[in-house]
This record gives sequence, C-alpha cells and structure tokens, in this order.
Amino acid sequence: MSVSEEAALAPAPWWESAVIYQVYPRSFADGDGDGVGDLAGLTARLPYIASLGVDGIWMTPFQPSPQVDQGYDVTDYCGVDPLFGTLEEFESLLEQAHSLGLRILLDVVPNHCSSEHPLFQAALAAGPGSPERDMFHFVAGPGGDVPPNNWQSVFGGRAWSRANPSSEADTDWYLHLFSPAQPDWNWRNPAVGDYFDGVLRFWFDKGVDGLRIDVAHALFKAEGLPDSPSEGGVVDGLRSNPQVSDQEDVHEVYRRWRTLAENYEPHRLLVGEVNLEPARAARYTRSDEMQQAFAFAFVKLGWDPGAWAAVGNELEAARLLHGATPTWALENHDIVRTATRFGGGELGAHRARAALVALLGLPGPAYLYQGQELGLPEVDVPAEARVDPMWARGGVCRDGARVPLPWTVDDRQNYGFSLGASASVSEPWLPQPAGWGAHAVELQEQDPASALNLTQAALEQRRTLWRDGVFTPGDGGTWRVEPGNLLVCERNERFLVAVAMGDQPVQLPAGTVLLSSAPLEEAGWLQPNNAAWVLRG
Ligand code: GLC
Repeated sequence: MSVSEEAALAPAPWWESAVIYQVYPRSFADGDGDGVGDLAGLTARLPYIASLGVDGIWMTPFQPSPQVDQGYDVTDYCGVDPLFGTLEEFESLLEQAHSLGLRILLDVVPNHCSSEHPLFQAALAAGPGSPERDMFHFVAGPGGDVPPNNWQSVFGGRAWSRANPSSEADTDWYLHLFSPAQPDWNWRNPAVGDYFDGVLRFWFDKGVDGLRIDVAHALFKAEGLPDSPSEGGVVDGLRSNPQVSDQEDVHEVYRRWRTLAENYEPHRLLVGEVNLEPARAARYTRSDEMQQAFAFAFVKLGWDPGAWAAVGNELEAARLLHGATPTWALENHDIVRTATRFGGGELGAHRARAALVALLGLPGPAYLYQGQELGLPEVDVPAEARVDPMWARGGVCRDGARVPLPWTVDDRQNYGFSLGASASVSEPWLPQPAGWGAHAVELQEQDPASALNLTQAALEQRRTLWRDGVFTPGDGGTWRVEPGNLLVCERNERFLVAVAMGDQPVQLPAGTVLLSSAPLEEAGWLQPNNAAWVLRG
C-alpha cells in the first residue's frame, strides 16, 4: 500500500472534529481564595468541563511572569507562576484531564518575552553590539528622542523604548510590538529558534497535547526593519502590513515545529493565532505547517449576514487552495463577548445562542471561550478597576471579557469563583458586577432552556453527527444569504446551518430540524435571531 493510500485509510486525527474550551486560568476558578483563579481551582472544576462534552482545553499562560499583560509577558517558559500553583500541580491537572478524556493545549508566546526575562536582562547589561543584544531587536536611534523607525505598538504608542535612557553611550532602542514590558525576540538569530525548540520539547515531554501559538504571524519582521508604509499597528490583524509582519521566513519555524510535534506519539497539535485575512492565514496551515489557525476574519464578525457569508466563502476558497480547514471561534479573552457585540440585553442573548449553534455546526474544529456556554455578556469594568495594558496605552479595554465566572447565584465566595474557606476569601482580581449570579452555572444546570443546556445538547448532537458519518473531515462550507436575511451554510449535501438574521420569521430549507437555538414556534419556520441545524433529504 502506498503512503498516501495508508494515510487515506488512517483515522482522522482527533483535532479535526474537536471542540476545545478556552480557559483563562485567572478567571475560571480560584482554589486558594486569593481572588485569582489558579491550577487548583481548574483541577477541581475539570468535571464541569468534561460534562460539557468538549474534547479538550486550551489554557492561556500560567508561566512565571510579572503579569503586566496578564501572563503574556513570560520570564520562564518552562515553569508555573506561584500565583497559579506549582509544576507538580500542573502535572496532576494534566493527568486528571487525560483521565476525563480531555486534551490539554498550552499557550506559547514566541514573539516576545517579559522585560524581566533573564536573557533580556543579560542583553541590557551586556550593552550595544553584544551577542546578548542580538537575541532581541536592539537598534541605535538616529539621535535624541527619535526611534529607529515609525512602527506603532499594537497596544498604542510607539513600538520602541530606549534600552538605557540614562546613558549617553548606549543609544540603543529595543522593539516591542506590544507593551515596553514585552521585548520582541529576534528570530533571525538561530539561537532563538533553538531556545524555543527546548520549550516545545519540555511541554510535549510532559504529555501536553498541543500548543496555541501567540501572534504566530509576527515572529519575523521585514529585513532591515523598514518604516511601515501605513500608520497603525504593524501586526494588528486584518489591518496588518504584510511588508512588516507575515514574512516568508516565519513558515520555516512552523515546518520545524510540525516535524517536532510529529516526533511524538500521538502527534501534538499546533494552533496559531494568525490574525490575517483568510488567504494569507491559510498559508500557515499548509500540510507541513500548523494543523490549525483561528479564522480571524470570522472571530470578529458583527451580526451581519452578508459579512458572514462573504467571510465564510473566502475561508472556503482558502481551504480549497491550501487544504486548510477553518478553525472557528467567535469569542476569546481579547474580544467583546458575543452577547454584547451582537446587540446586548435580551436581543444580544438570543443572538449569542444562535451564533453558538451556528459555530458548532460549521465544517471544522471549533473553540469556545469560558463563559460563552453561559451566554455571559461583556462587563463594563469600572475605570479604576481596569488592568489591561492595552487600555492603559490608549487602546480598547479587554477586561470586560475576563471577569471571573459566576458559579453560584449567591454572591458569597465571589459567586462561587473562590473555593477557599470563606473567612479568608479575597476580592476577585476584576470586580464581578451586581447580579452576576443570574448567569451562574448552578442556576443554568437546573434550567432546561439555559444557554448551558443548549451548549451541551449541541455538543452531543455534533458527536452523533460525526459518529453517523453526516459530518466528515472533507466537509466544506457554501454560504449564501436567502431572502429575509436567512444566512445559510451548506456543510455538505446532507446538512446545513441556518441563521435568521432579519427581523421577520423565515421559512427553513426543507429537511429535519435537528437542533435550534430556541424552540420553533411554527414547524419549518425560524424566528428572528435564531439558528437551526437542518438534515436534508
Ligand atoms: C495575543 C493574546 C493577547 C496578548 C497579545 C500579546 O493577541 O491573545 O491577550 O495581549 O497576544 O501577547
């Protein structure tokens, strides 16, 4: 049998049909009552995640960090910050997750580290022209307060800071696409690649099932660090300047990492935060690079059927060109929650449920963000309580999607978020709004019509459709908007997703309705702001 025949017969890898639940550890569950979520809290709540029916968990960073960007500023890539626990606790979490059938993905942050990282500290100390400084982008400025080029930080303000503002001899600036506390690694220095190989091996050796790669498209900057041709952030997603990030050299990193990931059995998964338009992003998931990259053009959509269909068809075109199945998500820790983004209040809540049903029926893997299964709205965190460095530098505030989860109706123990003994429980790191308990897990578990029960039902139905061969790895998506603003995505000849995005009830295409985001008031008709899965024929 030829290799390609063998590959055709081999079972599809687990991640092709997977739904992964994103945990933001600070805000998921607080095991020791200090007001910050941690590994002990997450471990205690693993059975809840398993009960949803997802395949795995992506954990955002918990490695040692000064927490300037809530962990995306790492000082030790192979450790656990005491704020979250210990390495032993992580090992136990991994073992317990595996015994519940949950895979674990970690976040790796290869574009930048913390300015407290020992290698950056060594670079500062070693001075201009040193090999230590070549691990980062240190460049002498033209003089005075003028940085080496016009790049702007994604968080606002310039992307350069002086290495040593008090020294006249040291005129170097260092590059930070994010905050000054997050210096960018110089990936043109091979020692950086070797260093990260070690990081990947460390976690893969421990049995971690995969990695989400932070700002994956930005590791290499244009040779010579030329001025950016347009104003604005140099890696800020769909508005990025291909001349600056998204360099050809970066693909070599992912080829190397794919080989490394496939040296393990079972193979490890790489999923990229590739915040680019579909045709460019799909190049990161060619057959020898990452297996997945989030469909960012989709992640950020508003409630607009034309936009959904256009993006869906663009992603499908990219899939046909590069064989890259889109990886669907509508929420994460960086963007406004769907219930608020899609209109807020009752309307937003309905639409968020419909969007969740649509998401889980689309062809390809999907990611849910913690609290999405509860239909949580964005919280308007009071200005004095905000901690997001992006907001501090003049950008949007991302704290509203990061407020600790409500587990109980009662506000004691921070709505059940803090599991420690009540006498010593501290305030949560971000304040929970009054009435947060109205969204609590404990309440939704008892309510058959809750968002939580809908999520569980959708995930169960999804598994059944995979098992019965209605969903297959080869599925694509053909998108269109029908009269009455009915959005339709035909997954294959047997299955379609429909979302009523207009303001009148619309007739569904013929078939059996397998699932709907709210009960149908009239057979075959979808009420506005609802979604349905239809089995045809
Ligand atoms: C990614 C993360 C975001 C972080 C940024 C810098 O976009 O998702 O939270 O601030 O990278 O690491």
